[in-house]
Amino acid sequence: MLHFEKLLLTITLAVRVTASVTNVVPPALKGAWNDPSNYLVLEGTLTDTESITNTIAIVDQKSGAIGEPNQPVPDTAITAVDGQLTAAGSSRTSNATARRELWKRSPGIHARAPSDYELVFGGTGVGLQARDASIQGTAYLTFTLVNNATYNVEDCLNFCDQVDKCVFANLYYEYNNDALDHRETSNLKCAVYADVHSAAEKTNFGGQQLEAPPAGLTYIQQSSGWSAKSLVEPTAPDGYELTYGPTGGANNSPGYMGFAFLDRYDVDACAQECNKRGADGNGGACQYFNIWRAVVNGDPTTYSCSMYFVVSDESTAVNYGQGDLKVTFARGYQRKNYVVDGGFEGLPCSDFCYKDSYSNWVGTSPVGGNLDASIFHYQPYAHAGNGVGLLGSASGLDTLSGTLSPAQPLQTQSGKNYVINFFHASAFSGPLEANAVLEVLWNNVVVYTIHPGYSNWQFYSVPVIGQGNDVLAFRGGAAPAWSFIDDVAVFLSY
Ligand SMILES: *[C@@H]1O[C@H](CO)[C@@H](O)[C@H](O)[C@H]1NC(C)=O
Ligand SMILES: *[C@@H]1O[C@H](CO)[C@@H](O)[C@H](O)[C@H]1NC(C)=O
Repeated sequence: MLHFEKLLLTITLAVRVTASVTNVVPPALKGAWNDPSNYLVLEGTLTDTESITNTIAIVDQKSGAIGEPNQPVPDTAITAVDGQLTAAGSSRTSNATARRELWKRSPGIHARAPSDYELVFGGTGVGLQARDASIQGTAYLTFTLVNNATYNVEDCLNFCDQVDKCVFANLYYEYNNDALDHRETSNLKCAVYADVHSAAEKTNFGGQQLEAPPAGLTYIQQSSGWSAKSLVEPTAPDGYELTYGPTGGANNSPGYMGFAFLDRYDVDACAQECNKRGADGNGGACQYFNIWRAVVNGDPTTYSCSMYFVVSDESTAVNYGQGDLKVTFARGYQRKNYVVDGGFEGLPCSDFCYKDSYSNWVGTSPVGGNLDASIFHYQPYAHAGNGVGLLGSASGLDTLSGTLSPAQPLQTQSGKNYVINFFHASAFSGPLEANAVLEVLWNNVVVYTIHPGYSNWQFYSVPVIGQGNDVLAFRGGAAPAWSFIDDVAVFLSY
């Protein structure tokens, strides 16, 4: 709170000055916005569960071991985006070209022994008439051929150990495959997956004419499935923190921005989708994602990645699926904001108050300036919530530009890419906002300048490189061309 005499003086001066210079009642006197229309609206932004469910019904990302053995594991592929299937999501067969995708995986370390696996299902024997089928399932990674002098479970599980994200192996003989019979030394295939499959998913019986007659059609024998006893808890992606999970509930929450399906459960790939998703004009950048596995009739079907501009948690994770669809392994991750209280919500006050500084933000005025940078607690001024930052003399006493800065340097790291996100509005005093100006400073260097004129709330995003303990500041305002800023975030970028 302002000291009482100072407040009184401020008001007296403000009334006198603004009365003589403009007819606008300044923010310090609770003046009204010229056009208060576009603050954050969350109505109608809940998760579009119907679109996700409908896309689960049509996506096809199940595959198995075809082509050449020992192919490098393709990067995680996107199989659908906002209800549209991609090539990788509409193919019956594994298409390594379509599946190859954009980003690098973080190398995973596996240290498992064959005893760390358990038999999920056995084969049906190797008798002359015995026939079996291999797995046609999600999250297929690659396959190898193991020495077929014995039914070589151990070499197969060793192979799984060496493949990043492998948790399941399907071991089987394939007959009448020209390539295996004539170019390779073994017909014992070991196909590995990043998800566990069941005998119900043994649906590939062969039946192809791959070798010239009189050779018969391809067929499968002795198909067994092995799963890692413990599924690895994923490491939170760089710049994110786990908010909940794993549970059987997906979020039904506001700030929804759309979804992507992944060809495997990959929190890093989902984080990248969130990072590169275009900002919502109303709500800003993606800062939360919800990843879960869709199981349909007991079979893993896809890995859903929903994105949000509002951070959520387990309290709204109430979509457990419906009908044949079950939500499994749901987890929420929040993008870490390096700005403490970027929404200016921490100013202690009940209805209307303002201050040049409080514990999280510091406003400074040039010499001779009066409240040229301040923090207001007043819902009608805020983009979201109640708090908002103001640049330009709150009392309308001068035309100097103030500076608002987080009270502490940011806990950033040197050499990493960051993005400064914020909302800005200069719509308080209508046409008198013509000279509105705002500069973004990063370690005392101006990295971005806008001359927005009259402008309602608008989202801005400025890429910067960290030096470690970085100092962020906003400078601007020239009353009555005031600038409001809100929902400031510094996120790790990519
Ligand atoms: C695999 O996908 C790529 C890229 O979508 C496409 O160009 C190619 O024709 C596909 N190959 C097959 C065999 O379907
Ligand atoms: C082992 O694989 C080779 C090459 O495909 C094949 O010729 C041979 O018959 C296989 N042995 C058994 C026992 O299936």
